[in-house]
Amino acid sequence: MSSLGIARLDIENALHRLDVRRPQLLRRTPLMKLPGKALSLDCAEVWLKLEQLQLGGSFKARGMLNRMLANEIPASGVIIASGGNAGIAAAVAAQALAVPCEVFVPLLASTAKRDRLRQLGASVVVTGAAYSEALEACLLRQRASGALLLHAYDQLEVVAGAATLAAEIEATAGLPDSVLVSVGGGGLIGGIAAWFEHRARVVALEPTLAPTLFQARQAGHPIDVLVSGIAADSLGAKRIGEIAWNVSQRYVKDALLLSDEAIRAAQLWLWSELKLAVEPAAALGLAALQSGAYRPRADERVCLILCGANLDPASLVVGRHPRSEDCHPRSEDGHPGLDPGSRAVPPMDCGSSPQ
Ligand SMILES: Cc1ncc(COP(=O)(O)O)c(C=O)c1O
Repeated sequence: MSSLGIARLDIENALHRLDVRRPQLLRRTPLMKLPGKALSLDCAEVWLKLEQLQLGGSFKARGMLNRMLANEIPASGVIIASGGNAGIAAAVAAQALAVPCEVFVPLLASTAKRDRLRQLGASVVVTGAAYSEALEACLLRQRASGALLLHAYDQLEVVAGAATLAAEIEATAGLPDSVLVSVGGGGLIGGIAAWFEHRARVVALEPTLAPTLFQARQAGHPIDVLVSGIAADSLGAKRIGEIAWNVSQRYVKDALLLSDEAIRAAQLWLWSELKLAVEPAAALGLAALQSGAYRPRADERVCLILCGANLDPASLVVGRHPRSEDCHPRSEDGHPGLDPGSRAVPPMDCGSSPQ
């Protein structure tokens, strides 16, 4: 096994499983290319990888399916603790493979999410005030049932599945200059950075209120952090995964923090200007560009991953655009894109209540 916890061969195996062996299970999501000026940005192109259109509404289906296809699934099926997109993706993948799926969700998971999981055929166990308690109960149950355990972000096949997203971008459009990636527990950025290595600049983005990777980098090792805010249901992992930590130490130079206001503004911009409905976690890339937290070069082709769309559509109600001055860019190598100069975003409407 590679010292990173993931090797190129793992990703190639994932590509083979998902693209060649079972191509009908996942969607090859579209890549939309816009000139920078279409977003009032001084860069050559902005690429939008429309992964919110993936089965189950997020990139997570890639990792869940890869984990399932790479292992023998016992009669007791698969099991996961997640109140969010990983649980939904696990249920969708289990349904596609016709295997039982048990999902442990904490009490704070919304009834809408529980209902969605049940609609997808999963057995839902509601337990524990927080995710960590649901996980504990899930692990106990897994030991008794022998079901295949799925982890939301820190399992080799899960990260390799996420990496297929990067491979798909390259196969469709070639190499971007930079890729802006939202980070929760790090499965997504771990996969993307493991694929691109140093061939594209991979930038980590987190909400200021959920700075899991950012604080780990400050501490020099993964630590538990407090998480809250607009995107916490998707980016609210308390601790960065080991695989993501190792990969990002080698391949990710920049870790930026973005305010909830900037994230919300970008989410609403995507809806009002492009008619793309995404959840807050998927809007961090645009938030980094529009707020000026990340400033691309004039000739740069920047790729944004619109990683999920599990949102209540009513949350895309319009109002006024909030100001973005409370973004907190962080630079580690002097790239012009990390100049903290704040950029005015065009006035627009903004909803009143975050989801
Ligand atoms: C829509 C969306 N984007 C990004 C992430 C972050 O992914 P990761 O936990 O692999 O960093 C998640 C995690 O659940 C998600 O649901």
